[in-house]
Amino acid sequence: MDIGRLHIFPIKNFHPVPAALLGPGAHEMVGASARDLGFRRTLLMTTGLRGTGIVDEIRAQVEAAGVEVVVFDQVQSNPKDTDVMAAHAVYRTERCDSFISLGGGSSHDCTKATRVVAAHDGRLITDFKGPLALENPVLPPHIAVSTTAGTGSETSFAFVVTDTTSDPDRPHKFASFAHALAPSLAIDDPVLFYGLPADLTAYCGFDVLAHAVGAYVSILEMTPSHGLALQAIELLATHLRTAVGNGYDAAAREGMMYAQYIAGQAFNSAGLDAVHSISHATSAHYDTHHGLGNAIATFPVWEANLPFAYRKYARIAQAMGVDTRGMSEVQAADAALDAVRRLADDVGIPQNFTSLNTLPRYSKSRIGEGRYAHAATIAGDDADCARVALHALGDVCTVTNPKALTLDSMTALVRSAMVGSR
Ligand SMILES: [Fe+2]
Repeated sequence: MDIGRLHIFPIKNFHPVPAALLGPGAHEMVGASARDLGFRRTLLMTTGLRGTGIVDEIRAQVEAAGVEVVVFDQVQSNPKDTDVMAAHAVYRTERCDSFISLGGGSSHDCTKATRVVAAHDGRLITDFKGPLALENPVLPPHIAVSTTAGTGSETSFAFVVTDTTSDPDRPHKFASFAHALAPSLAIDDPVLFYGLPADLTAYCGFDVLAHAVGAYVSILEMTPSHGLALQAIELLATHLRTAVGNGYDAAAREGMMYAQYIAGQAFNSAGLDAVHSISHATSAHYDTHHGLGNAIATFPVWEANLPFAYRKYARIAQAMGVDTRGMSEVQAADAALDAVRRLADDVGIPQNFTSLNTLPRYSKSRIGEGRYAHAATIAGDDADCARVALHALGDVCTVTNPKALTLDSMTALVRSAMVGSR
């Protein structure tokens, strides 16, 4: 029997997640954990987290446990293949035997990629795209310590890296995955989230929402992920506003920590939707923040998907705290969109990508850092939308989107994200 004709994804694959230490104070276990895992000389990879003191604190704790530490603090946001190869050069010349990543998704993803290079005699990371059949699946051990509640990368088996050798007019950001990539240990400590600015807290929160909703509506239909996804949405709806309003609210930061962790576990096996496809494509072209890209892409993608998964969006409305009694499922699905629109308004999510050009803090610090000639301003014109849409259509997350997308329909979604309003 051709069971592929009965169901598009008949066989489910439950991917591994690492051991984890979760909760306030967990980061103080990093030294003992490194020692217990056999680390002797470790490469601590980070974007720098300048001004927070966290890098020095983690370094001191690891060294106090008798493990030598070499710091590589040159990871860029939306990590590039060049970051991976530079980190590997340090790993090799410093004769390290292990990794600690400290930060958000950029640090964790760059570290996973560097482990692959280290296990394959320094081969270019651009040789490792998509689902990986690794010649050497025994990667150096890795502890991932999160400083944001968003990525889920500390508990996933994937990384995303920008290929700077790609055509400057068609920059390529690729996702790779293999069971061996899951870190050896994840450490999620909400105390490390306290210093995250309000805007980044909001952006990362919408990454959590995109992971949870993407996992729930994905046509992969990974039933074991659905409960985690709904609980993550409930936690997020309860805690994100407070975490943005008062970064030192312990309960809110802890709630968001659990939301990020279980949403990460959910999408690790369930896949995602086109929200991530558009965010990946836009950040490849413009170095936009991953979570912010998800936040902006949420609205056109949900509107497109609602008719094809309205029962699920009705449950999402309930998880977001909407009283759906008396509503039809279609009305409840629409109410989910209304609820997330209110959330976006409350935590200050910009309306569209082109508005980032005039958002002072954002445009100065992010857009134009890319190597691409057109990256200084987000154009949002027809040619730009078509170019970004082509990248998004080829993204692995598009495969599991509830609505099957063509280049035309993806271009319409991208145009709405570029210049529309929610
Ligand atoms: Fe994400």
